[in-house]
Amino acid sequence: MPEVISIINLKGGVGKTTITIALGEIMALNHGLKVLIIDLDPQTNATVALIGEDIWVKRNIRGQTLMQLFRDKMENTDIFSAEEAIIKNVSNIGGGINGLDLLPSSLDLIDLQDLIINIPVSRFLPLKPVTVLAEALVNHLSHYDVVLIDCPPNLGLITQNGLIISQHYLIPVIPDVLSTYGIPQIVSRLGRLSNSTGITISPLGVVANKYRKQNIYHTNQINLLKLREAEGGYCRLFNTIIPETSRAATAMDYTAKCMNLHHKYGYEIPYKAYTALTEEVLEYVQA
Ligand SMILES: Nc1ncnc2c1ncn2[C@@H]1O[C@H](COP(=O)(O)OP(=O)(O)OP(=O)(O)O)[C@@H](O)[C@H]1O
Ligand SMILES: [Mg+2]
Repeated sequence: MPEVISIINLKGGVGKTTITIALGEIMALNHGLKVLIIDLDPQTNATVALIGEDIWVKRNIRGQTLMQLFRDKMENTDIFSAEEAIIKNVSNIGGGINGLDLLPSSLDLIDLQDLIINIPVSRFLPLKPVTVLAEALVNHLSHYDVVLIDCPPNLGLITQNGLIISQHYLIPVIPDVLSTYGIPQIVSRLGRLSNSTGITISPLGVVANKYRKQNIYHTNQINLLKLREAEGGYCRLFNTIIPETSRAATAMDYTAKCMNLHHKYGYEIPYKAYTALTEEVLEYVQA
C-alpha cells in the first residue's frame, strides 16, 4: 500500500498546493515513484495547475470530480467512478508526467461541502460522511507508491475524508506568527482523530515556506520553531526551508508549458529546495 500524506494547515495561502504539486512532480520524475495527487480543496487550485481549466470543465460536466462522489452519496446516484475520474499522467511538464495521476476537485464542491454532514449513515454499510473517499478508492490506492492529499485550509468533513486514509501529514507554514499559530491545534486535533478512529496518522513535520532571508522576523520565527522542536513541543521542523520566489508562483500556471523540472523550477531556486524537501519527506515516511 502507498504512503499517504496529507498536506495541511488551517491557515490559507501558506503553500499547501504549491508544495503538493512540486513533491508529486519530483517524486514521479526524479524518484520514479507512482504518485496520486488528490485535490480535496473546493478551490480546485491543484486541479487547475495540473490539468488546466479546459480539461477541468469537461471533467466537471461529466461528473468525474470529487464533488460528484459526495453528491452521489447524498442523492443516491452512481455517476462518479474513481476509475474514470482519476486522470493519468498530469502536469504542465512535458505534456504530462508518466506516473503522476490526479483525482480532481470541483468548484461546485463549495456549495456542497456544508451538506456533507447529511450523508445518510446506513445501518448495514460502514459508510459515514468521513469514509466516503476511503470507500471510493479502496481498489485504487494500491496502484501507487505515494498519495499526496492537498487539503483545504480547515479540518471539516472533506478534510477528514483525506486524513482518515493518511498515515502522515505535513504542515507548510510561512515563518510568521499567524501562520505558525495553529500548529499545536492541528497536532492535537489530529492526535484526537487518531485516537477516536483507531487510524494512525502522525506528523512528518513543519515546512517553512516563502522564507525571506533579509527578514529578521522570518529568521526569528524559524529559530522559535527549532526551539519548540527541541523542547518536544510541536513536531519536527524540516531542514529544508523554501525561499520566497516568484518562480514558485508562476510555476503553478498550467498554460506555461515546461519541458522539464528545471524549466519549471530553475536550477537553483526553488528547484533545490523542492528536491531537498522531497528527499527529506521520502526519508521520513520510510523511517
Ligand atoms: N515559495 C514561494 N514563493 C513565492 N510565492 C509562493 C511560494 N509558495 C507559494 N507561493 C504563492 O503563494 C500563494 C499561496 O500558495 P498556495 O496556493 O500553494 O497556498 P495554499 O496553502 O494551498 O492556499 P489555500 O489555503 O488557499 O489552499 C500562491 O499565489 C502561490 O503561488
Ligand atoms: Mg491550496
